[in-house]
Amino acid sequence: MKQDPLNEEQFKARELDPGSEEEGSISWQSPSNIALVKYWGKKEPQLPMNASVSFTLSECHTRTTLIYRKKERPDDRMTFKVIFEGKPKPEFHPKIEKFLERILPYLPFLTAFEFEIHTGNSFPHSSGIASSASGMSALALCLVSLERKFDPTLEGERFKRKASFLARLGSGSAARSIEGPLVVWGAHPGIETSSDLYGVPYPYSVHEVFLEYQDTILLVDKGVKQVSSTVGHGLMHGHPFAGARFRQANTHLQELIPVFEGGDLEAFIRIVEKEALSLHGMMLTSDPYFILMRPNTLEIIERVWSFRKDTGSSLCFTLDAGANVHLLYPKAEKETVGRFIETELARYCQNGQFLKDQTGSGALCLG
Ligand code: DP6
Repeated sequence: MKQDPLNEEQFKARELDPGSEEEGSISWQSPSNIALVKYWGKKEPQLPMNASVSFTLSECHTRTTLIYRKKERPDDRMTFKVIFEGKPKPEFHPKIEKFLERILPYLPFLTAFEFEIHTGNSFPHSSGIASSASGMSALALCLVSLERKFDPTLEGERFKRKASFLARLGSGSAARSIEGPLVVWGAHPGIETSSDLYGVPYPYSVHEVFLEYQDTILLVDKGVKQVSSTVGHGLMHGHPFAGARFRQANTHLQELIPVFEGGDLEAFIRIVEKEALSLHGMMLTSDPYFILMRPNTLEIIERVWSFRKDTGSSLCFTLDAGANVHLLYPKAEKETVGRFIETELARYCQNGQFLKDQTGSGALCLG
């Protein structure tokens, strides 16, 4: 655990001169991630109340191109347009503006440029899959790449940490979308490199079974959630079970250390499913209370449990802040689980839809 977790000074940009950098473009592809130990509850400035760990995904990602042009007459405003999948998207403006203003102290050159942000996701727009992790991390990576043009020393670990630090300020879970296959975000006494400020690659030994773990995302309800994650996090303030929940999450992460090393899938399943249900337990017991699972979420969970009992499979589930179910299983079970999904679970998905994914290695610079 970093002893100086609040040392944000290290991320302040030096007084940089964008110099001759007049215009250009930068593109990144950044993945989504699925938390095994969940982040739910935060404090200002977007710091987690407990440590979390996630699998970085491979197929679900956002591609973002940042086009930048030096302003003719510099002012102190953020000037940008957002183009989502080829069309202007003014709805995205307020969230991105808030993000850019928030990161201005760390990238003071932002107001010297005007930007066009072209972005798109590999997963269907209305799939109910949160795009904030992949979207915010892709944008953060483009912006840190721009900074690197004036400060070539910003490379390697410093570059990735700064990208994760900035992505976090856009969306907490985005801090875990820079690298892979397992990323920890949040200071944890058992993980020495961990920090509240940014995500770090899980630093200890990982059994090979987890390097190619499968994640099939069952799209149970593709509609807009009735309660956003941001509101849900807020309801952890004053939640009667909050303290116990934060301790539980940190304990689960500690318990996962030997599991990651030894590949004990029974223990993995127990911890991961407990995390998913605890997350939703917090929603069921907050004030006001709410339910994001749908009847088909529960149907799927029941069937996963029966399948495991009948076949000895290591298939398990986890949930995000929504009704969709992530099915996690070793690559060796790809065919049997694939058949089970097709024949028994697809019927509980909206229009029979699901997305096949697996652990990935992190973001990719596209030029
Ligand atoms: C349930 O990162 O979407 O997916 O920081 O407000 O943008 P903000 O929230 P967000 O919360 C994600 C919550 C979660 C669990 C997790 O990914 O750890």
